[in-house]
Amino acid sequence: MIKVKNLSYRFKGKESNTIKDITFDVEEGEIFGFLGPSGAGKSTTQKILIGLLGDYEGSVRVMGTEVKERNRDFYERIGIAFEFPNFYHKLSGYENLELFKGPYSVPTIPAMELLKLVGLEIDAKQRFHSYSKGMKMRLNFCRALLNDPDILFLDEPTSGLDPVNAKKLKDIILEKKKEGKTIILTTHNMQLAEELCDRVAFIVDGKIALIDSPKRLKGSGGEKRIIVESKEGTIQNFPLEDVRENKEFMAMLNTNSIATISTKVKSLEEIFIEVTGRSLI
Ligand SMILES: Nc1ncnc2c1ncn2[C@@H]1O[C@H](COP(=O)(O)OP(=O)(O)O)[C@@H](O)[C@H]1O
Ligand SMILES: [Mg+2]
Repeated sequence: MIKVKNLSYRFKGKESNTIKDITFDVEEGEIFGFLGPSGAGKSTTQKILIGLLGDYEGSVRVMGTEVKERNRDFYERIGIAFEFPNFYHKLSGYENLELFKGPYSVPTIPAMELLKLVGLEIDAKQRFHSYSKGMKMRLNFCRALLNDPDILFLDEPTSGLDPVNAKKLKDIILEKKKEGKTIILTTHNMQLAEELCDRVAFIVDGKIALIDSPKRLKGSGGEKRIIVESKEGTIQNFPLEDVRENKEFMAMLNTNSIATISTKVKSLEEIFIEVTGRSLI
């Protein structure tokens, strides 16, 4: 669905490239995430993919079209949620969506249906300027779905949302994947990346450090350990590998002094720090 090869990008007036020779593919029906700290180049990459920054180097093909050479039809088939929602302040959420439907020649989804999907139906007639940050983000998400697009580009889709609404959005994104849509998202939230993405690209300083599935990354994330807490409150840990050979651990199992046993697997965030040398904040 998307093929990016040796993509570099430099903003006018900047001395160095913001995006530095990145290469990746996104398959149809996949949820692909860019995970990286603020300033890494996530939004810039998304802007290039959707044709907003045309003066890039390298090749960016979306649905078979080199993005530089796209025509208007390109926008009929993609949905975009920008990081910072931009709407008409004096119009209601409903009126805004109706207005943004205008340019599409493909069939669109009724605005109220989308507002219901994200739990904004009772606020539909309220003016946009009275919406909270979270309501604005949800409306922004609706806007991306208006034309029932084949590819969804979501820049930090859950930022500013409370856990209940973040969960609602995650469920809708998974539903869209089930419908066969391709989803590209950016985030600095490793939990979101882990819960949603089939594959993530770790991005730092405009470079991709690694691309893999969160599951595989966590599976290969170094040594797993067993943590044993005794009834007296002392905590010991043992390597999980060949634990049956570990006499001390086996002896503990035969006593009646164990309060809890758990395993520790590295978090995606810990793996990110190991691979990139940077934290996600
Ligand atoms: N319009 C612009 N002009 C110049 N520099 C920009 C512009 N937009 C972003 N940048 C710079 O590009 C880098 C990457 O920004 P961005 O893609 O927004 O990062 P992220 O989305 O990962 O937080 C930052 O150093 C930022 O300051
Ligand atoms: Mg950004």
